[in-house]
Amino acid sequence: MLHAHRAVAACLLLLASAQAFVPLSPARTQLAAAAPPAASRAFTSSNQHAVAERDAQGTVSMASRSAALAFSLPAALTSSFTRRAAIAVAATTAVVLVVKALLDKPSRPYDREANTVGNEYDAWCEDGILEQVWGEHIHLGYYDTDERKRGSFRKDIIQAKYDFIDKMMQWGGVNDMIRSGHAPKKVLDVGCGIGGTSRYLATKLGEGSEVVGITLSPKQVERATQLARDRKIGNARFTVMDALAMEFPDDSFDLVWACESGEHMPDKRLYVEEMTRVLKPGGRIVIATWCQRDDHERPFTPREERKLDFLYSEWTHPHFISIQDYAKLMDGTGQLDNISTADWTVQTIASWRHTIWMGIKCPWIWIPRCGLRWALWWKTFKDAWCLERMSQAFSAGLMEYGMMKAIKRKPKEAREAPAPAETAPRERDPPAFNPGPGPIQQ
Ligand SMILES: C[S@@+](CC[C@H](N)C(=O)[O-])C[C@H]1O[C@@H](n2cnc3c(N)ncnc32)[C@H](O)[C@@H]1O
Repeated sequence: MLHAHRAVAACLLLLASAQAFVPLSPARTQLAAAAPPAASRAFTSSNQHAVAERDAQGTVSMASRSAALAFSLPAALTSSFTRRAAIAVAATTAVVLVVKALLDKPSRPYDREANTVGNEYDAWCEDGILEQVWGEHIHLGYYDTDERKRGSFRKDIIQAKYDFIDKMMQWGGVNDMIRSGHAPKKVLDVGCGIGGTSRYLATKLGEGSEVVGITLSPKQVERATQLARDRKIGNARFTVMDALAMEFPDDSFDLVWACESGEHMPDKRLYVEEMTRVLKPGGRIVIATWCQRDDHERPFTPREERKLDFLYSEWTHPHFISIQDYAKLMDGTGQLDNISTADWTVQTIASWRHTIWMGIKCPWIWIPRCGLRWALWWKTFKDAWCLERMSQAFSAGLMEYGMMKAIKRKPKEAREAPAPAETAPRERDPPAFNPGPGPIQQ
């Protein structure tokens, strides 16, 4: 609210200054001409001349009045225009400042008790705007080097989502499992959204496999189930379940897949431990999630903290952690081997602004859905604003796109959970992403 107050104060100041510094209008010039001599000292020379004549003769001659009018008309017209323009600029600036202050005020903070995550996804699912723009996927897209060179916005935004899944399968070793004849039979999709990835995996793996998607949003389960039915995909099913208290027995799944759900977890350790618990020994876990940069050696500045606070509290995120911290948590389970991480910021960052661009290029995909629901218009603008602020945070290196993978150790190899390693293995793809001082070029 502080921002809004400041903005309103700034606007009032602007409006006041527009009034104070703008030259007098013609009407006011004429009025001033009839005022006592002391008040009329600052007039134009023609007015002064008329006043002097009146003082001398006791009357104002018609001739001198006409001359005064003729001289002051162009200046009067100009000053009127300038005054109106200045007021218009001040008013527009005022509106922009107020709107910006309201956009900068995060409005959807995380609250576990109130299930804000489930409620927000229910709302996104019901209004359908996200589905119109991103298709069946609620995650960033993948843009390879050539596509980035050609211009990321030229890529089909929904294809970028599918490419992301393909790259994640490849990187996570799922393709290796398939190639070696050990295609995962039981797959868990943790935080499945409306099930785009679950259905894609189910189709790729075939009837011999089953994919289970869990989410906190009942509406997403409904939509995901309906889409699976429509597409006649019988080996994907969906249920409402909390990833931090899963009802599955230990060692249930050959593959645990978590794409952009970690952001919403209030307890990242429990998140990693629960996923490890339900993973079968020898099974693979692969996680993609938004991370904040490691702040151990370089703590966040107050400005960075404010930016992070906005990103936490606009889209119901309790907090983020770094890629390194995820690796430590995975190592800390004492049950995972071959832990490896990567930062896919470069490959995914175009998604943010690409989404905004889609909204501008194809307004018919969201305007009819908003209709006369003004609250939904506002929510959609807020989402666009958050997309831009996410883009900036990733571009500045404040946020990173974390990829983590590991294999669960077989029982005889299990060991005591070690003290978390100081540094965890980390790989980057491409090798050195340095956000540098300026924004990343699309
Ligand atoms: C950004 S969406 C990702 C959706 C999906 N993975 C995809 O790629 O399309 C985040 C999902 O995580 C789910 N989620 C968040 N916290 C969860 C929790 N504690 N338990 C289960 N699901 C959760 C949300 O309900 C939502 O479906």
